[in-house]
Amino acid sequence: MNFDLTEEHRMVQSSAREFAQTELLPGVIERDTAQEFPNELVKKMGDQGFMAVMVDPQYGGGGMDTLSYVLIMEELSKIDASASVMVSVNNSLVCYGLQEYGTEEQKQKYLPKIAAGDYTGAFCLSEPEAGSDATSQQTTAVDKGDHYILNGTKNWITNGGRSGVYLVMAQTDRAKQHRGINCLCVERGTPGFQIGKKEDKLGIRGSDTHTLMFSDVKVPKSNRIGEDGFGFKFAMKTLDGGRIGIAAQALGIAAGAYELALKYSKERKTFGKEIAQHQAIQFKLADMATKIEAARLLVYKAAAEKDAHLPYGLSAAMAKLYASKVAMDVTAEAIQVHGGYGYVKEFHVERLYRDAKITEIYEGTSEIQRMVIARHVLGM
Ligand code: CAA
Repeated sequence: MNFDLTEEHRMVQSSAREFAQTELLPGVIERDTAQEFPNELVKKMGDQGFMAVMVDPQYGGGGMDTLSYVLIMEELSKIDASASVMVSVNNSLVCYGLQEYGTEEQKQKYLPKIAAGDYTGAFCLSEPEAGSDATSQQTTAVDKGDHYILNGTKNWITNGGRSGVYLVMAQTDRAKQHRGINCLCVERGTPGFQIGKKEDKLGIRGSDTHTLMFSDVKVPKSNRIGEDGFGFKFAMKTLDGGRIGIAAQALGIAAGAYELALKYSKERKTFGKEIAQHQAIQFKLADMATKIEAARLLVYKAAAEKDAHLPYGLSAAMAKLYASKVAMDVTAEAIQVHGGYGYVKEFHVERLYRDAKITEIYEGTSEIQRMVIARHVLGM
């Protein structure tokens, strides 16, 4: 067992850290307030190789491993979780899904553009009546021979307003239940596909989250990913990796808040000394550091298992469950260390606190992670 990062991993980590400091930190408060994220910044993340970290270089990707991806996610999330969720959905759900299960034509068509940051991709599983209960898909894709006719509504879709390609899960054969679900690549601008309202969110406000509507959208059969009926398995398999990405995001949010609290504790004075000299603050910092380290070990272990081609669904669920709780705990304590200053925007910890909450919800709520973990440990 080796807990050291390689020289290469350290370089990836430090370049992501530098990018976050120089490109994401300026304007992060304003982007959060305005609920905006400029396309130029997405392009810059593409130029850095963040949009398709693990994609084969022949499709424009970075050809790196999952641990590199996790290190990038951690560093970006310390500063801007809105940026990192775009990176996460692009990498874990869209790029991984296309690279692993897509046809050669689909890979060539979509991956280079996503990798370059020309556009993002979106993963469309959730619906008004199908969130945690993902098999209850109401969106339909009726088989018409050489094409499908797609009808339905998708909810809470990350990158919903800015993507070029949308991976849409839809029910083709209801009699087959989840085995009748397909995943279709739907391109922006396809007639009948409408981008609906943008959500006004508690956190990750810079990222755009939309409702999507499909009304008699004609999708060629060549846009289907995998065999007929593979859609639900496709969603579950990609989400196993997605949960590592979100766990890394939660870890980064926690680590970002902790770093701010640590720095502040050496600057702020009360009762004649730095607050870091007070045991009340020291114990908070000690607990925060310990929880973050435990979360980090779980996240890196899940990434290492994926890289070693071992089963990683259990580790991914554990990492996400634990890291998201740590993000909630640590960001709350970071505000407490800052006192009143922690409650206002310019000290950044209040944003990290708001951003932390979503990590307990998307890509499987904490309750779903417990369900996945319980099924593994019980052998069900
Ligand atoms: N890998 C491969 N196959 C899997 C799998 C996995 N990890 N998990 C389940 N499956 C397969 C099962 O083997 C089964 O297949 P067969 O019937 O052919 O054997 C099929 O999927 C159905 O599985 P279950 O019977 O276990 O289904 P279930 O109804 O009990 O639900 C669940 C399983 C784990 C709860 C699932 O519904 C789930 O993960 N729900 C949460 C959905 C979710 O994470 N949504 C996130 C939305 S995406 C998002 O948030 C992105 C974003 O924008 C940030």
